[in-house]
Amino acid sequence: MAEIDWDLLRARAVEAASFAHCPYSGLQVGAAALCDDGRIVTGCNVENASYGLGLCAECTLVGQLRLTGGGRLVAVACRSGSGELLMPCGRCRQVIYEFGGRECLVDTARGPLPMTEVLLDAFGPEDLP
Ligand code: THU
Repeated sequence: MAEIDWDLLRARAVEAASFAHCPYSGLQVGAAALCDDGRIVTGCNVENASYGLGLCAECTLVGQLRLTGGGRLVAVACRSGSGELLMPCGRCRQVIYEFGGRECLVDTARGPLPMTEVLLDAFGPEDLP
């Protein structure tokens, strides 16, 4: 796998955020991920009048991952519509872990970090009987 183009991933995340449906929070969120076959998948948050039903950007991203060929997440960047770095919420860290595992890198304020540091002592598919 070639070098990860983090600037491209961040730019694609900001672009994805522009498609957000966020009339309730007002926070546009975009996520972009490099997949193990080299393609980039993206997602945006999609809120709902029934507030708790809103979808995070990472959730719609994994939907796109599955819909466009599956595979594994190698590197993930999340950004607001104005370009601020955002960390995936706790639930979304678990969602990323399902499709990226321990080695998947996540963009953080401290630079790209593996999921082993972003979701400590994770529960995952390997823990199921
Ligand atoms: N949000 C995401 O899309 N991803 C996260 O990891 C954190 C939060 C969205 C959910 C909601 O639409 C808005 O940000 C404010 O919480």
